[in-house]
Amino acid sequence: MFNICDDEIVANKMPLIGDTAPEFHAQTTNGPLHFPHDYAGKWVIFFSHPSDFTPVCTTEFIRFQELLSQFDELNTDLVALSVGAIPSHLAWIHAISEMDGGAKITFPVIADMDTDIARTYGMIHDSSSDTHAVRAVFIIDPMGIIRAILYYPAVLGRNFTEIMRIVVALQTADAFRVAIPADWVPGEHVLVPAPQNTNELNKFAKKREKNIDSRAWFLSYKPLASDTIYERLTQKSSGAKKNK
Ligand code: BEZ
Repeated sequence: MFNICDDEIVANKMPLIGDTAPEFHAQTTNGPLHFPHDYAGKWVIFFSHPSDFTPVCTTEFIRFQELLSQFDELNTDLVALSVGAIPSHLAWIHAISEMDGGAKITFPVIADMDTDIARTYGMIHDSSSDTHAVRAVFIIDPMGIIRAILYYPAVLGRNFTEIMRIVVALQTADAFRVAIPADWVPGEHVLVPAPQNTNELNKFAKKREKNIDSRAWFLSYKPLASDTIYERLTQKSSGAKKNK
């Protein structure tokens, strides 16, 4: 049973898909940050990790850094957060740069000492830990709107193929006005949005576009080549990188 009043529910509401990303100012390993304003016009992957100097987080930081240039081609920046202090973050990323198979971490890491930002974003799940963030991922579009959210527990590292797929899929959905089927990867057929009213339904019935594979009035596939996608998303020639 809920025993808190509506005001408290509203005050504690964590941002959800479709919400504007809550604004904050923070100190990071790369200097001060005003979020999401500093990223206007860009996609952002804003993610939290539980602790510095921990194994799973270290593998994730290396993986994020390895993929940074691919995200950059997709006009997408990375911003990390944990409750640690800047000196701890700096010492950890220095250690990562020195270790075998390590990487020089160039994306900013927020020091959220008082957990204010993590709590605002619902990154602290009290039943798991009331002092450390879970592995949250917020994918935020160039208008500052939250478009996807993932949560992983501390013991499980994120799936970077899926994070990359989400960024490409959302950008593809926006750029080509299509929807994205289950398990889609670039190069596979996409979905034509289903008719939303009788007018659209009648138009759909009359005008069958060629190349459209229509299984029912509400389920139609169409081809979309991965070269076409990457040319549009990266504004580059068809030699652009494919999703991994
Ligand atoms: C890790 O990154 O390995 C980790 C962090 C917090 C709790 C458990 C594991």
